[in-house]
Amino acid sequence: MKTLKVGIIGGGLMGREVASALGRWFALLDFPVRLELTAVCDVQEKVRDWFRQIPTVSLLTGDYHELLRSDVDFVYVAVPHHLHETIYLDVLRAGKDLLAEKPFGIDLAAAQRIRDTAQELGRFVRCSSEFPFLPGVQKAFRYLQTAELGHLLEIRSGFHHSSDLDPTKPINWKRQTQFCGKIGVMGDLGMHTVHLPFRLGWKPTRVFAQLQKIYAERPDGKGGMAPCDTWDNAMLHTEVVVNGAPVPMRFETKRLAPGEMNTWFIEALGTDGGVRYSTKEPKTLWVFERDREQVWQRYDVGHAASAFPVVTGGIFEAGFSDCFQQMWAAFVAEREGLLGDRFGCVTPDEAVASHELFDAALRSHAEQRSIEI
Ligand SMILES: NC(=O)c1ccc[n+]([C@@H]2O[C@H](COP(=O)([O-])OP(=O)(O)OC[C@H]3O[C@@H](n4cnc5c(N)ncnc54)[C@H](O)[C@@H]3O)[C@@H](O)[C@H]2O)c1
Repeated sequence: MKTLKVGIIGGGLMGREVASALGRWFALLDFPVRLELTAVCDVQEKVRDWFRQIPTVSLLTGDYHELLRSDVDFVYVAVPHHLHETIYLDVLRAGKDLLAEKPFGIDLAAAQRIRDTAQELGRFVRCSSEFPFLPGVQKAFRYLQTAELGHLLEIRSGFHHSSDLDPTKPINWKRQTQFCGKIGVMGDLGMHTVHLPFRLGWKPTRVFAQLQKIYAERPDGKGGMAPCDTWDNAMLHTEVVVNGAPVPMRFETKRLAPGEMNTWFIEALGTDGGVRYSTKEPKTLWVFERDREQVWQRYDVGHAASAFPVVTGGIFEAGFSDCFQQMWAAFVAEREGLLGDRFGCVTPDEAVASHELFDAALRSHAEQRSIEI
């Protein structure tokens, strides 16, 4: 079996999640490629130390250039947003393929430069967004590709968090514009909300945005306070043209959504059909059908509906670590030319399109009007 060597730059929350996904790669049934995590870079020694327990890791370094000189086949980068452009471009120029983290650059110009450089150098690049790889969402996607929805009435796609409701939560880089970008919560959560709609061809033509900043400062963790200057919540009211008709499509990204832990959801409603899915009930997919009667049908969806078969029982429900591994399988399969008609990771063009939307949303909010995209 072919084995590919993987490097990670940024071993924090997401870097460790990757190590976990690769550590149980054998859970994928008959997958044609094996992955081996061989190199990890993080500027913090205590973060690097965690990776010492992984026997395949032979290079631990604080300098990502050293990792790029090693024989890894591709690199996953999960660092704060202000570092995306520099590190992503260095990865590409080192001749390595890239699984990038969202938002794929701190702003639109950075995303465009990353996309264009990847194209010029002929490198394979995709961006992370894992929720569409949940089995229930895969089933929803297949339904939406072929279903007769009648007249499409509305689309809602969102991602809600609530941990920031607590004003005593200390600041981190994700709450400061200089590190996370002017798009704030849209950069943090927005890619997750656009991936599936964009893949269905639902790209907005204009946007009216409502952005909210609630807490202006937070504890700095050293006894003082620090400015918290990012957008907390963003409601993007957009219009998309489907079958020649304008349809309202709303993207919701919120850090201040009471009671919501990590709730990703999608809803598309037509006169004759529709779907509703939320990670609040991860194995439940609702499908609407109107015939002589109007019926919401509830499906229990287990691992059997995953894009890439796994050893886990077909009736067993999936969670975050499962969809994250499925996303990695999709990245590798597509890089090997083996994806077929399965759902793929966010492309550089889709990542740039997300930034075009978020950039227009910033202008919409500033000018208090809808903006053509
Ligand atoms: N796909 C998802 O669901 C998801 C979830 C959370 C975060 N993210 C994204 O992942 C990325 C990282 O977020 P995180 O939550 O893992 O952050 P984090 O703060 O937990 O980890 C970032 C790591 O990068 C390291 N780092 C900083 N500068 C570096 C450098 N020059 N070289 C090497 N390492 C460096 C830090 O020491 C830290 O360990 C961001 O782009 C974020 O948007 C994605």
